[in-house]
Amino acid sequence: MKHSSGDLVPPELEDDSFEVVLRQSGIRFVVREDQTIIEAMVEAGFEPLTSCEQGICGTCLTEVVEGEPDHRDCYLNESEKASGKVLMPCVSRCKGKRLVLDL
Ligand code: FES
Repeated sequence: MKHSSGDLVPPELEDDSFEVVLRQSGIRFVVREDQTIIEAMVEAGFEPLTSCEQGICGTCLTEVVEGEPDHRDCYLNESEKASGKVLMPCVSRCKGKRLVLDL
């Protein structure tokens, strides 16, 4: 939330930074408001499987261990999204401050 007071972006559409922990790899990093989880993973030295990077193909599907995903993909169906057990890290984010992923 780094918008100046002159911006007209509603609070619910603003992106926030959050922490991601890759449980199997033991890697922990922050996803800045201006980058995707995949971009932050690469910056942290992890090599994720990706393809479309638009939330369409399903290549990057990742299991969520902890935290509440903010789904922004077109791949998962509504019940998968509601379960909160998987997310597409190329486009989706976190509703809270921390996500633990099974990577
Ligand atoms: S890379 Fe295609 S859905 Fe994430």
